Amino acid sequence: MEALGTIISTPETPNTLEFHFVIKEGKVHKGQFVQVPSSEGPVLGTISEIYRANRYFERAESVAEYSKLGIISSNFPVSEWEYMVARVRVHGIISQNFLTRSSIPAKCGSEVLKAEDEQLKKFLHIDEKGLHVGTLLHHTMQIKLHLSKLFQKHLAILAMSGSGKSYLAGVLMEELLERDSSLGRMAIIAIDNHGEYVGFKDSAYRKQVNVLEGKKIKIGLRHLNASHLSSWSNMSAVARRALDLHLSSLKKKAKEGGEPPSLDDLIKSIQNDETLNKKENVRGPLLSALGDLAYMRLIAKSDSINSSIISPGTLTVIDLSSIDDLRKKQMIVAYYGRKFFRQRKKGAIPPYVMLVEEAHNFCRERAEKSMALSKPIIETIAREGRKFGASLCLISQRPVHLSTTALSQCNSNIILRVTNPFDLKHIGESCEGIDSTTLNSITSLRVGEALIIGEAVGVPVFVNVRKRKSKTAVRGESLEQIAKEFEEKNKIKEDEIEAFL
Ligand SMILES: Nc1ncnc2c1ncn2[C@@H]1O[C@H](COP(=O)(O)OP(=O)(O)OP(=O)(O)O)[C@@H](O)[C@H]1O
Ligand SMILES: [Mg+2]
Repeated sequence: MEALGTIISTPETPNTLEFHFVIKEGKVHKGQFVQVPSSEGPVLGTISEIYRANRYFERAESVAEYSKLGIISSNFPVSEWEYMVARVRVHGIISQNFLTRSSIPAKCGSEVLKAEDEQLKKFLHIDEKGLHVGTLLHHTMQIKLHLSKLFQKHLAILAMSGSGKSYLAGVLMEELLERDSSLGRMAIIAIDNHGEYVGFKDSAYRKQVNVLEGKKIKIGLRHLNASHLSSWSNMSAVARRALDLHLSSLKKKAKEGGEPPSLDDLIKSIQNDETLNKKENVRGPLLSALGDLAYMRLIAKSDSINSSIISPGTLTVIDLSSIDDLRKKQMIVAYYGRKFFRQRKKGAIPPYVMLVEEAHNFCRERAEKSMALSKPIIETIAREGRKFGASLCLISQRPVHLSTTALSQCNSNIILRVTNPFDLKHIGESCEGIDSTTLNSITSLRVGEALIIGEAVGVPVFVNVRKRKSKTAVRGESLEQIAKEFEEKNKIKEDEIEAFL
């Protein structure tokens, strides 16, 4: 086996958590896994940093003096005394299928070896039939995540804008869609703020994909009660009671054989209520609140999404890109999120992953009540979902604004490049098992490189995300490309007008 170097003694290392080794020739990389044979078994660690050491440059005063005279390199064999040293964070001892805590530090002078794929597979929980997200950085091993370990509890994908969150989510979706039914398949529901997953409809997976256009999504009034409506618009307790009476009576009539009520019916019923004639201070604001809801064009006689489309191995894209009003988007997520969760509890729909793009907009840590419409259901699924096979995949470029209740329930995290210090600090605090050197490495990740932490993998791993098989998002195109397409489109229009005239 190839030796990478030899363990050296520094004032504090080797200890049970860390050792340093001087690098032999050849390449070693930050994030690479290494092993050291020991009496307890192979000690496994990750290279957390690489630095140069040179005794000729240790003392500031001598370096300053010699460099004034310009005689360092000409008079001393400085390059012969230059070493590359790697710092290694110890994970533990590899024994059978798991890691045990090391109780004795690795020995000075021991040879440091490359960790073998077979060893890594055991404790990284690699499942040959799992979800293939990419390759372990600086190794050749494919990272195939165990479905239950990834989704039994929830997943958060966090990174700054443009670092590849949606791309990675697309990879995960492809894996879920390709999964064989004999292995157990989940359904995917994607809350797609920017229409980034609509492209799945034109891909090889098209038969498994439903795209629901935001503007056409409706919520059936007959499934709502006064408390739903009052949580979506501002109304007093008295107004809510009046609303409750009218709505219940309309629903009762519908049950007795009439048409399901519409929001217009409800508004008319309140307008015609003579008992409210003397209570204009109740009726006025109530009608105005209902008028605001009607303006949104979201509430209709019946639901437009039938839960039966949520079936195993399918992707349902709720494309909210055509809606500008965040409250309307939140209402859709609040209503259908609750509906699907209820259906799942009853066993009417299969286990599912609800993927929420821009999760900080749907489940904000500090949100005014009027802007926290979908937060309760997301937090409920975060807390209770795992008992019922309802998982969340929360995607956010501003983790600092994401609900800590929801984030703390995400037992696996995939982090791509983040440079904002507030977000980094927040990630460090909310992800278990992330140390400061790993956290700092996040700032230097390139597009397509990710850090996976938590239950899905035994120890934090850096991964090169695999290429997507299906079409990528339109929004991923470069600005030049979008600008060119815009001009070309306009040119065609102008030519057509000219030809017509
Ligand atoms: N693993 C990868 N391999 C190749 N290209 C990638 C990879 N990951 C991301 N990209 C490219 O990088 C660009 C940005 O990716 P993406 O849209 O997924 O970022 P994002 O984090 O979702 O950004 P935003 O926060 O703005 O939604 C896209 O052009 C995408 O094709
Ligand atoms: Mg995105």
